[in-house]
Amino acid sequence: MLHPVVLSGGSGTRLWPLSRQNQPKQFLSLIGDHSLFQETVLRASRLPGVQPPVTVCSDDHRFMVGEQLQGVGIGNGGILLEPMARNTAPAIALAALHVAAGDPDGLMLVMPADHLIEDEAAFREAVASARRLAEAGWLVTFGIRPDYAETGYGYILRGEPLDEAGFRVARFVEKPDLPTAERYLAEGTYAWNSGMFLFQARRYLEELATHAPAIAAAAREAHARAHTDLDFTRVDAQAFAASPSDSIDYAVMEKTDRAAVVPVSCGWSDIGSWSSLWSVAQRDEDGNRHEGDVISVDTRGSLVRASERRMIATIGVEDLVIIDTADATLVARKDRVQDVKTIVDRLKADG
Ligand code: GDD
Ligand code: MG
Repeated sequence: MLHPVVLSGGSGTRLWPLSRQNQPKQFLSLIGDHSLFQETVLRASRLPGVQPPVTVCSDDHRFMVGEQLQGVGIGNGGILLEPMARNTAPAIALAALHVAAGDPDGLMLVMPADHLIEDEAAFREAVASARRLAEAGWLVTFGIRPDYAETGYGYILRGEPLDEAGFRVARFVEKPDLPTAERYLAEGTYAWNSGMFLFQARRYLEELATHAPAIAAAAREAHARAHTDLDFTRVDAQAFAASPSDSIDYAVMEKTDRAAVVPVSCGWSDIGSWSSLWSVAQRDEDGNRHEGDVISVDTRGSLVRASERRMIATIGVEDLVIIDTADATLVARKDRVQDVKTIVDRLKADG
């Protein structure tokens, strides 16, 4: 059986001031009526023969996850609560233990809660191909054709074909530096890792035990000592705290020789920053995206989002991001929005 696993532990700091610690970006309606989390579970529910989704998230967000699932009428395959963030390798291990407990041969489709996919038919076809490879024991990634030298992604070098849709991964490199990413882009032989994965739960646990035994052991202990209350499974804090913090990409995918890649062209995007949101949103003929009460004159290429409390007017500006909220306003050049993180770090440091 196929179990979607939604990773919803990120804090989305680069979408400040809208995204906040208690209301991170995946729970906000950034485009359209649903949040990115809701879009993700709905997309999963439309796959053929799929089980209800398993969500892994911070304890702080448990009610939001419950409400958001109910809001779109999606059943619940388990909400696993992390007492603290330890990155994706342990989070996925908890989900794998949960899935394998009820379904020893179960497959899991790992989906970050903050991605958009425009072509769902292409996505479904890739999942069907990946499923066949996962049944044969592969840890399957989805390869996206890169269009610039992004350093925040993983890069996959394709090896020999495994079937008509998939290839062995010859090399997986997580977050290369800029010169390396530029070289990969120029070589034209690397794909971006989408951040979605499909594999047997037990196969992931085996690979984790081989390549990151401390994470595997801590997750196993934390899961064995978990308490279930209502829909929530709260893992043991002390045991989970002992886990090293690492991502699946570094801990497993760079190291395993059981990785496969299914290339997919499905209009994928990772909504990581205000500029990526602008680039996927519908824009007017001047390239502007307005939300709320906005008036602009001679304004181009900008994302302007007014809050409920006041209108925003712009004149003669280009390539800006302006985000107003009840207690903070961001004004930034669109090519500088990665640095929003710096502001959040400074706010944290100031307490
Ligand atoms: N439950 C839980 N717990 N979820 C987490 C945690 C955690 O501790 N940390 C991160 N996540 C969630 C995030 O919310 C996001 O949905 C997903 O896991 C991936 O984490 P990111 O922190 O966004 O990873 P990344 O974007 O730096 O890199 C990953 O995604 C890229 C594509 O977007 C990697 O897989 C890259 O290789 C990939 O290219
Ligand atoms: Mg991400």
